[in-house]
Amino acid sequence: MYYPDELVEEVRMKNDIVDVISGYVRLQKKGANHFGLCPFHNEKSPSFSVSGSKQMYYCFGCGAGGNVFTFLMEYENYSFPEAVKLLADRAGVNLPEIEYSEEVKRKESRKSKLLEVNKEAARYFYYQLRSGRGERGYRYLQERNLSEETMKRFGLGFASMSGGDLVQYLRSKGYGDDLIREAGVAVFDEKRGLHDKFWNRVMFPIQDINHRVIGFGGRVMGEAKPKYLNSPETVIFDKSRNLYGLNFARTSRQDHIILCEGYMDVIAMHQAGFNQASASLGTAFTIGQANLLKRYVKEVLLAYDSDGAGTNAALRAIGILKEAGLSGKVINMEPYKDPDEFIRNLGAEEFRRRAEGAENSFFFELRMMEREYNLKDPESKTRFHREIAKKLCGFSEEVERENYLEAVAGKYHIGFENLRKLTASYAAQTGLARPVARPKSGLAEKKNTPEENRKKAQRLLITWIADEPEVYPKIAKYIGAEDFTDELYRKVADKLFLGLPKGGFEPASLVSLFADEEEQRKVAELFNTKLEELTTKQEREKALHDIVYTVKRDSYEYYSGRMGADVDALNQVIAGKKALEELSKTHISLDE
Ligand code: UTP
Ligand code: MN
Repeated sequence: MYYPDELVEEVRMKNDIVDVISGYVRLQKKGANHFGLCPFHNEKSPSFSVSGSKQMYYCFGCGAGGNVFTFLMEYENYSFPEAVKLLADRAGVNLPEIEYSEEVKRKESRKSKLLEVNKEAARYFYYQLRSGRGERGYRYLQERNLSEETMKRFGLGFASMSGGDLVQYLRSKGYGDDLIREAGVAVFDEKRGLHDKFWNRVMFPIQDINHRVIGFGGRVMGEAKPKYLNSPETVIFDKSRNLYGLNFARTSRQDHIILCEGYMDVIAMHQAGFNQASASLGTAFTIGQANLLKRYVKEVLLAYDSDGAGTNAALRAIGILKEAGLSGKVINMEPYKDPDEFIRNLGAEEFRRRAEGAENSFFFELRMMEREYNLKDPESKTRFHREIAKKLCGFSEEVERENYLEAVAGKYHIGFENLRKLTASYAAQTGLARPVARPKSGLAEKKNTPEENRKKAQRLLITWIADEPEVYPKIAKYIGAEDFTDELYRKVADKLFLGLPKGGFEPASLVSLFADEEEQRKVAELFNTKLEELTTKQEREKALHDIVYTVKRDSYEYYSGRMGADVDALNQVIAGKKALEELSKTHISLDE
């Protein structure tokens, strides 16, 4: 971190989060917190909360959260030092000049070094495109209808023929070979040594949601293969958790994202005014990406290629959207292959109409299924109807299932009652729609991975302790920071447990321990996990006991699995076993 921790903390304490955020968002006091419409995703009823006592904000809709610094980083796209600077000015705190001494540089993590290398590389490609050597690339992009403004916005560039220029340039900037290679922009072999990964291609820098370059896609300017070459995955480039163009799309203020397959599609769409377009990174759409989108929108329109491969990819994407709880629709691009070609031929207005008329994903799935049956043949038709009934069972909520039943019956001219009976018989077979009983502690949520459940219990505990610090002494005997199996959680718990007994402790100070917005968001989430509304003391005591027990048991299992690999594990296991035995006999009382 650039400024001393105490100074950062002073700046934070002198800027009340409710005051600061009120300058951006209309807030209303409700109970202990203030609520407003979330500025980070589109919503009609307020789920964005700001807590004066915790000095944190958190959106229950999209999961955005953090302290006053995070807010400015997210809202204004500031870096952490920039946010500190602005708030220091606001509160009249003097900051020392930032010195990029050798020592500071050494201290910077590998991650930020890799980001630097990628940024330098992007800069290099960018200038190449505009130099004489990049002429061919520039012409290629022009021929693909991109304006200078668009090329600039997406930072497009060019990798020249030579194959060694970038490596040389990066070395001249002082980056070591290991780092250059690790950043994924160069490859090593015995014959050529370290050489550029990309040559003779137009370059598409790939940015994360904070506009940082994390990798590249490079396209040949003709027909050679591979058409696109991409950076390999690195510490900073996780292809399953980033999306191309999302850095712009997330602030488009639309209630949906348009998801396409290619970089060029995204760029063409943005140029045509569809800033909400985004694409996966040369790999299939993943649940991680769906969860990322879920922070910003509830609906995703798929603008996938209209060929067979595109259709199959769309069908898979629909499943993933559903799993993430996002609603999906499919844009019909016929007779063109992809959004880029569509817009070039029919224009933005026509695309807008197609987007507005996008097909509900369930009907799209049925329509694709229908192609495999011959509806003139009663037998084949019957099989189709059975498949429809099976698919209808996928809706576990009765109202939704009924609505679809009605719509499908009408659309495919099936008797409503017949279809309903058929669906009911499949539902009975598969034991559908038995609602999962949820224990009061809020521990078991549907379909989460064991890992996610484990973390949820840990979050519940942290939130509870932060909201009611007086419970901490009652459980301190059983729970320590080591019981938090996630590294970030453990770090937070450690500081929290140290700070609490001293009194006057503000959890928001913990957020500043992390410079990365993503990590800050996770810290905020830790302190804002929704506890069930429990009224009686017995209920609350039972829930607390459940949570403590679960966290301890998970920790015990975690360390049991690490014995042999970790010298401290054995001690943890022994202590854990003892605590669990004790806990199973003990009642945690919430009396004073
Ligand atoms: P497409 O083959 O559909 O190409 O690949 P496109 O986006 O229409 O590209 P243009 O218009 O011909 O330039 C879609 C996406 O799949 C990945 C890229 O991310 C591309 O944008 N891809 C494709 C690769 O990673 N490698 C390839 O060789 C081809
Ligand atoms: Mn294309």
